[in-house]
Amino acid sequence: MRTLVREHRIHLGQLVAPLFVAERSSDAGPIAAMPGIERFDLNGAVAEARELFGLGIKSVLLFGIPAEKDASASSSHAQDGIVQRTIGAIKAALPEMLVMADLCCCEYTAHGHCGILDGRGDVDNDATVSLLCRIAVSYAQAGVDVVAPSDMMDGRVAAIRASLDGCDATHVAILAYSAKYASAFYGPFRDAAGSAPQFGDRRGYQMDPSNAREALREIALDIEQGADIVMVKPGLPYLDVLRAARDRFDVPLAVYNVSGEYAMLQAAIANGWLDGATAIDELLTCFVRAGADIVITYFAKEYARRHG
Ligand code: PBG
Repeated sequence: MRTLVREHRIHLGQLVAPLFVAERSSDAGPIAAMPGIERFDLNGAVAEARELFGLGIKSVLLFGIPAEKDASASSSHAQDGIVQRTIGAIKAALPEMLVMADLCCCEYTAHGHCGILDGRGDVDNDATVSLLCRIAVSYAQAGVDVVAPSDMMDGRVAAIRASLDGCDATHVAILAYSAKYASAFYGPFRDAAGSAPQFGDRRGYQMDPSNAREALREIALDIEQGADIVMVKPGLPYLDVLRAARDRFDVPLAVYNVSGEYAMLQAAIANGWLDGATAIDELLTCFVRAGADIVITYFAKEYARRHG
């Protein structure tokens, strides 16, 4: 009876698995605060994608860990950069895998900010947008299906769309991190990607956790500029924002169940304080109930193993 009257179900086709790919094999390995998640080298990432695909997870979101960082994030748009090579390798091995790539500079800048700095040490919005366009084009040339700008610069979606269209990449979709909050819950990710800002914080470009109406404005702007899919991030502490976005907008809506949410749950599960399978299933179902069409989650593989 409960199955018959159930209102929401998770389909494996809704889940996206993030993948960390390191340029240097010596940077590959486990991530302390994210038990069960690893940094892979190129071959490891392809093997992981193959395993995910076999389990029914058919979308991955790539994050690069480059060998070199500098002030202008030059390794971010190299045609033989780690993300660009991984895109090509996964698409060659698994043409039906949907390959998304996170589009941001913070893993590539020595200072760890999500953009190019101006003379005052602030992020220069427009210079950063030009750089993002360059990265997006390099991903498109590598064969990416979706670019996912996570930088939170103003005007980037329109600029990226124009750049993609200008290089014969009209087919590449944009998943915009539209309502991305300046959150403490990204801590484990920043350790994994080595992308913590070396000074200051990201409050100049990411959103204030106190603001919900502003999130709707940010989402509306991204849709106007051509975003195909919009996102609310983090997930668990922002289910109200997710619901408000679902009620207001009709475009596909994604949520990012971020590293800190994963770490929090895994820590409690490891201590025996929560029952893993039921807690994870409840968590993912709540995202769908709150309105997400797409759930980006480090639990994707674990969930697929139990429900495939
Ligand atoms: C890059 C980026 C971050 C995350 C996704 N893309 C980190 C940040 O903004 O500091 C966080 C993902 C997670 O915590 O799982 N800008």
